Amino acid sequence: MSLKEIARRIKEVANIVDVIGEHVALKRSGRNYLGLCPFHADRKPSFVVNEEKQIFRCFGCGAGGDLIGFYMRFHNLDFVEAVRELARRFDIPFRLEGEEKGSQRHKALFEVNEKAQRFFSQMLWASAVGEEARSYLRQRGLSVETARSFGLGFAPPSYDSLASHLKLAGIELSLAEEAGLLVRREDGSFYDRFRHRLIFPIYDLAGRVAGFGGRIIGAGEPKYLNTPETQVYRKGSLLYGLFHTRNFIRTAGFGLLVEGYLDLLALYEAGIREVAASLGTALTSQHVRQMKGLAREWYLVFDADEAGLKAAMRAAPICLNEGLFPRVILLPEGEDPDSFVRQQGVRAFLALKEKALEIFDFLLEVLKKRYPATPEGKLAIFRELEPALLALKDPVLLDLEVQKIAEKLGISETAIRRGLRQRQPLKEPQEVFRASPNYLERVILEFVVHYPQFLSEFEELGLAEIFKEDLHRRLYQALIAAEGEISVEALSFEDLELQALLSEILLSPPPFEEVAPERVAAEIKGWWLKRRFKQRLEELLAAIRAAEASGQAEEALRLLREYQELRCQI
Ligand code: GTP
Ligand code: MN
Repeated sequence: MSLKEIARRIKEVANIVDVIGEHVALKRSGRNYLGLCPFHADRKPSFVVNEEKQIFRCFGCGAGGDLIGFYMRFHNLDFVEAVRELARRFDIPFRLEGEEKGSQRHKALFEVNEKAQRFFSQMLWASAVGEEARSYLRQRGLSVETARSFGLGFAPPSYDSLASHLKLAGIELSLAEEAGLLVRREDGSFYDRFRHRLIFPIYDLAGRVAGFGGRIIGAGEPKYLNTPETQVYRKGSLLYGLFHTRNFIRTAGFGLLVEGYLDLLALYEAGIREVAASLGTALTSQHVRQMKGLAREWYLVFDADEAGLKAAMRAAPICLNEGLFPRVILLPEGEDPDSFVRQQGVRAFLALKEKALEIFDFLLEVLKKRYPATPEGKLAIFRELEPALLALKDPVLLDLEVQKIAEKLGISETAIRRGLRQRQPLKEPQEVFRASPNYLERVILEFVVHYPQFLSEFEELGLAEIFKEDLHRRLYQALIAAEGEISVEALSFEDLELQALLSEILLSPPPFEEVAPERVAAEIKGWWLKRRFKQRLEELLAAIRAAEASGQAEEALRLLREYQELRCQI
């Protein structure tokens, strides 16, 4: 099967509303579904999924396309990878000649991770050495059920239990090294990276094992060890637990972001399942986009220590930049979500959630305690708040925050604004949506998308010439190549820009809706012929002048006759 055929079959069986609905909270609104766009900082739902046409489109950032295009963007995959993943999900055999090497490598890495995961989990549940880890889980209050559903495992203390297991299974050990599971010695032999640790597999949103975290059992250094960055383990875009909890988050409309694997599991165990955990690293905008795609209301849970404050300060601008306005749950000194919920219970935890402060209020509170109420102290507070303020793109919201800060710090609003203006960040290139420089090009393009029956006529007249804007020209040519079949299938361009433009046009009404398309087509043809005549006339005029100037009287006369004939035709 060709890639295109596989893509077509996926779209025959998959419904875009279901697939996108697994990643973005969607609400039905008339004939469409609406949600917050996962591709930009979306504040009010501008992300539309059209079930009938099987396409999506964001009216904020211009992203758009079909199911496969969504998958490519969301999971940051290329066309082949996206088709492969979706084919796997919908049980469509995926066999291609000459597969792209990179994607094969990805697949191999996921496979070796899965093998390792099964091995670790076998060690935890079905081996004598695993008893130590089983009792550790009990001591930490985790049930077998929770531990199993998150795929937990145990890496035995020895240096080669996984290595020899994989070798026996016929796995190339250098592949396991590339997956971060094994480490190569100077002599070329391999040993296990994870030893004597409780293992937390880290799943991506497609449910594949991307990597692992491992906690030392008992005392020892380092407390946690993670898979190093690999081709499939990218901590900047992975959140722990999200594959298991995303449906809870979506249904509840809120999520809690905690810092530790065990914090997440403890809350889950206690019945609070709307949780995700960062992987011991700073929050990135990719994380935030995934979070925002699931729910609008997020609570960042931090310890009340210096590290917690630092983490909140760092997370604030990243969230705000993406249009997510988090609240902050601050735990009592010395507690983390795990210890708190186990000692105080779910009710007490939920009470903290109710009292959670909005991010700016939280930062202000904490900073005011930290700096003296002197001019220098206020300046310092202002400087600390600055990154978060600058991340507020909405002028109204910025205004509100500035007012609040001015009031609470006793600084004038003008002073704050002046301070901010000096440091305005560069405007982000809003390149996704390009307003057409030539309105006419655009209208004609829209017309042929909605009425492809006129394409061949237009083509014969050489209308392609008018498309000066590259994207328009590309789409027009793609439409010609699709031979008028401008269906969802035709949307499977590997080019996301083309997908976005085509879905945008498909979701907007045809131009001149009230006029019969035949009449519009005739108008367009008339306009085009006239334009061609005019061009020809201008060329003739120029030639006549040139002939006269160079004394070629006969030639000038001939051209003049031609000119007059043409004018009569118009
Ligand atoms: P417990 O001590 O088992 O309750 O874990 P915890 O999650 O409470 O630990 P802590 O608050 O110290 O750390 C929170 C998160 O930061 C962990 O879940 C890890 O993701 C990460 N982390 C902590 N210590 C280390 C470390 O030594 N190395 C790495 N790579 N990450 C760590
Ligand atoms: Mn802890």
